[in-house]
Amino acid sequence: MLGSGGREHALAWKLAQSPSLAKLYAAPGNPGIAQHAELVGVDAGDHGAVRRFCQQHEVALVVIGPEAPLVDGLADSLRAADIAVFGPSQAAAQLEGSKGFTKDLCARADIPTAAYVRAGTLEEARAALARFDAPYVLKADGLAGGKGVVITESIEQAELALADIFDGRFGEAGAELVIEEYLEGEEASFFALTDGETILPFGTAQDHKRVGEGDTGPNTGGMGAYSPAPVLTDELQTRVMEVIIRPTVETMRADGTPYSGVLYAGLMLTADGPKLIEYNCRFGDPECQVLMMRLKSDLVAIMDACARGDLASVEAEFASEVALTVVLAAKGYPGTPEKGGAIALGEAPGGVMVFHAGTATRGGNLVANGGRVLNVTATGGSVTEAQRLAYEAVDGIDFPTGFCRRDIGWREVEREGRDQ
Ligand code: AMP
Ligand code: GLY
Repeated sequence: MLGSGGREHALAWKLAQSPSLAKLYAAPGNPGIAQHAELVGVDAGDHGAVRRFCQQHEVALVVIGPEAPLVDGLADSLRAADIAVFGPSQAAAQLEGSKGFTKDLCARADIPTAAYVRAGTLEEARAALARFDAPYVLKADGLAGGKGVVITESIEQAELALADIFDGRFGEAGAELVIEEYLEGEEASFFALTDGETILPFGTAQDHKRVGEGDTGPNTGGMGAYSPAPVLTDELQTRVMEVIIRPTVETMRADGTPYSGVLYAGLMLTADGPKLIEYNCRFGDPECQVLMMRLKSDLVAIMDACARGDLASVEAEFASEVALTVVLAAKGYPGTPEKGGAIALGEAPGGVMVFHAGTATRGGNLVANGGRVLNVTATGGSVTEAQRLAYEAVDGIDFPTGFCRRDIGWREVEREGRDQ
C-alpha cells in the first residue's frame, strides 16, 4: 500500500484484518500504519523502484492511497509489468486531475453539474466572469492539494483572484481555469467502486472542510467526517447512481479509458436534485476512516476483485451504525502547522480507533509531523452518540500543540435533537 496519511492507516488497519492477507508492506507509511504493515522506503514517484520492489517481494496487489501517484500514471506503469493495482489509470484519473476534463465529460453525458466555462488565458477568464452572477467560483484545472478553489462575492475580488492564478498562485495546476455557477445546497459525498463495468456503491459520508467551528475560516483537507450521510436517502443514492455515477463509468468505458478503483463524488444537494461538484479518484481523507470503521466485508477480497475486473463477484456490507471521526490538527494548520509537538495517546476507550495522519517517532516518543495529525474515530447508534464517544477519546489524548473542532457532525446532531 502506498501513502502515509490517516486514510492509509484506516486502509492498512482494514486490509490487515483480512484472512486472505499474507503480508502487508506500506510505503512510506507512518507509525500507526507500522502496527499493521512492514514499512518500506520506496518512493511512489519512482515507478521503476515500485515495480522492482513488487517483483522482488511477489506483491499480489498494490493499493494506491493518494491522488498524486494515480494522476502521475503509477497504476499504468505497474499494470504494464503485470502487477495488479487498485486505482485508476492516468487517463481515468483525469476525473480528479483535470476539472475541465470532468466538466466536459458531464456536458457530453448530460450529468447534472454547475454550468461552466474553461479558460486558458486571463482574457478568456475575464470574459467568462461576465456570464456568471455572484458568488463567483474559480477553480484551477489541475491538482492543487485541495486549495485550488476560490469563491468570492465581488467581481473585483474575482478579477484579482484571476490575475493571481494566472500569475502562478497554483503553479502548473492553475495554467487553465474552470469558472462555474455557484450551487446552493448541502454537500455530501458518495463513494462507488468500479472495475470499469460493474459498479458497487460503497457508502456515503459528510465532512467538514472549514478549519473553524460552525464551518467558518479557511478550507482544509477536512477536519472531521461521519458516515453514513442521512441526507443522502436511499432514493437520492439511487438517483446519484443513475444520473451521475453510471453515465460517468459508461462514458469512460466507451472512450476507451475505463475507470477502475474508487470513484468519490462530491455532491451538492440542490433544490433541483443532486449535482456533481467534483470527482476524486481515491478515497476521501478523513471520509475513508469512517467508511472503514463501518465496513464488515473483506477489503482485500474487494480490492483484489476490483483490480482484476471481477467486481461482480463480491459484495460490500456496512454496519448500520454511525462512525464519526474528529481530526486533531497541529496549531497553525491549514497554514504552517507546528512540527514536533509531543503526543501522549494513553489508552483509547474500547471500540475507538485513533488513526495516525501526520505523526513520527523521535527518540521513541510520538510527535506531530504534519497538519492533520490524528483521526479519533468512534462508532455509535446515532451521530450524537458517536460524537460523544469520539470527543471522550479526544479528551484522553495529551497533545498540547494540537487542536480540533468541537462540533463535528453538528448538522446531524441538530437534526437528531429535533427528531427526538
Ligand atoms: P472542490 O475542490 O471542487 O471540491 O471545491 C472545494 C469546495 O468549494 C467544495 O467542497 C464546495 O464547498 C465549494 N464549491 C466548489 N464548487 C462549488 C460550486 N459550484 N458552488 C458552490 N460551492 C462550490
Ligand atoms: N476530505 C476531502 C478529500 O479527501 O478530498
